[in-house]
Parts: sequence; structure tokens; C-alpha cells
Amino acid sequence: MRTKMVAGNWKMNKTLQEGVALATELKETVKNPSCAVVIGTPFIHLATVSELLKGSPIKVAAENCADKDKGAFTGEVSAAMVKSTGAEYVILGHSERRAYYHEDYAILREKVRLALDNGLKPIFCIGEVKEEREAGKQNEIVKAQLEGSVFNLTAEEWNNITLAYEPVWAIGTGLTATPEQAQEMHAYIRSLVAEKYGKQAAEDTTILYGGSCNEKNAAELFANEDVDGGLIGGAALIGEKFRAIIAAR
Ligand code: PGA
Repeated sequence: MRTKMVAGNWKMNKTLQEGVALATELKETVKNPSCAVVIGTPFIHLATVSELLKGSPIKVAAENCADKDKGAFTGEVSAAMVKSTGAEYVILGHSERRAYYHEDYAILREKVRLALDNGLKPIFCIGEVKEEREAGKQNEIVKAQLEGSVFNLTAEEWNNITLAYEPVWAIGTGLTATPEQAQEMHAYIRSLVAEKYGKQAAEDTTILYGGSCNEKNAAELFANEDVDGGLIGGAALIGEKFRAIIAAR
């Protein structure tokens, strides 16, 4: 049985105090979720929020980690450092990192490798931009993203991977993929995982949907067989909305 999950991605939002306030609220109100719950926070929040959430079912994710092990890389944060905060997950391959910070397949392959070597579980994001969808190239794009950065993993390593399908045209735009579009792509992604790692591994792989998923459309998206949960941006910044999405899963 694969894990159902609702994960938040705070992006570059919330001061430390604001983040602590939201994490505290979630700790007090999310006690017995029917799915795994993860919050992705900025680096500077990780240690405090991880400590605060001890004993809570809510797990913590970093939103990035370096593609280098350690050393003279001013301003970077390594996978080992993330792990040392108590965080268990790391979001990698987010389209904002790919687009604004030029993270290509090779860089992401390194980040995934370092995350796994340091005991972190990657939430690996894939998805096409608007022009690619309009040209009918979405399948070929997500396939290339998987082959470029994660299909080099061993079967054993694969067990630690959560995928997130995030059509870039749906992120932060209010343009959610329809439940049919999400299901179609998730089924395709699962078929690729089956070809690479076998049917059972594909059955066991958690595939989240992300892109303007909110408290109003979550239930409809999650009702699809291959949509195992969501990676939530904007709606994860408000406790009430995030809780409603968790309840929809
Ligand atoms: P959004 O972001 O929910 O604000 O569209 C999702 C994401 O980027 O992970």
C-alpha cells in the first residue's frame, strides 16, 4: 500500500516567528491525520520547527539542498546540514528552482544522490510548462525529467522517492489541472515507474499533484486512483486551508 500524503511548500514566505506560529497551530490541530503530513519550510526554520514538531505526526522538509557535499560554497546548505536539523524530507526539482536557479538534470541528479546518501527522502517535482502542454509534449517532458535525474537510482533507493507532478502552468496561477488531466498524467508517470522498477514498485510509489491545489478542489483531485495527495503552495500558508486539504485526503 502506498503512502497518501499532503505536503506543504512554504516557499520564501514567513519569518521565523510566523513560521513557528503556523507550525505550532498545526501541531495543536493536526493530531490524527488519515495521511502523512509534511511541511516544507525555509532552511532557517528547519531546526526550530523540527524540534517543535517532535511527537507530532507532522514531518518536516527542506525546500532545497546543495549539489555539493561540503566546503567552500558560500551560502549553500548541504543535505547533511538539512538532516542534522531533524528534517526528514527535501523537495527537489521544483520548477521555480529549475527556472530561476538553472537547476538542470545533472545538478538535480547530484542533489538527489546527496539527499539519499544523507538519509533524506526526496519529494521530486516534475512537470511541463504551458507551451509544452499546448504542443502536446507533456509526456515526453516528464519522462525526460525522470530519466535525467532519478531513473539512475537503484530499486532500493527508489523506495525513498516521492514524486510530485506539478504542471508549471498551474503553479500559483489559480489554473488547476482538471482531475482528468491529473489522473491521466499520474497514470502515465506510474507506467514509466513500472517499466523502470517493476509493477510493485510503481504501485508503491506516492505521486502527489501540485499546482493551485486548494481546500476547494483537493477532494476532487484526490478522488483519482493515481493521485496520492498534494504538494501545496499558497494554501499551505494558512492553517485552516491546509487542514481542510489534509481532511480531504
Ligand atoms: P501553489 O504551489 O499551490 O501555490 O500553486 C504549488 C507548488 O509550487 O508546489
